[in-house]
Amino acid sequence: MSLQKILLKHEPKPENLLKVLKEIQKENKYIGKKECEKVAEYFSLPLARVFSFASFFDEVETRKGGKKIIKVCSGGPCLMEDSREVVRQIELHLRIEAGNDAHPKYKLEFISCRGLCDQGPVVMVDDQVFERVRPEDVDDIIRNYL
Ligand code: FES
Repeated sequence: MSLQKILLKHEPKPENLLKVLKEIQKENKYIGKKECEKVAEYFSLPLARVFSFASFFDEVETRKGGKKIIKVCSGGPCLMEDSREVVRQIELHLRIEAGNDAHPKYKLEFISCRGLCDQGPVVMVDDQVFERVRPEDVDDIIRNYL
């Protein structure tokens, strides 16, 4: 779907801004300057405001070829199923640290409950959801999805 079609699906109200940015990202993989300009024009907002709004949200990627984002649920039920060990394995395999944004290709972060508590631990790589992830599954996920 073209950017224009996405914009026209929504009224240019502030409460629709994040929804529009996410839909554009789904089509385009990231929100660049060109996309921000079109969104700013449609919402009658300054470009800098749209760009800073987009940059604020971790789930909105403003850089082309952005990082792969690995998210691990830190809700109680997932912790009970040893999501901490899953995190440790991801950190070891990718040589990254959860919450640290320094790696050029990967980012590991904690997320709150996704409502899949009986399927935990829950891990997400971008929009792909993995359920009942065991520490020994981490190698496969990294090899096949990163
Ligand atoms: S606690 Fe992880 S999905 Fe609910």
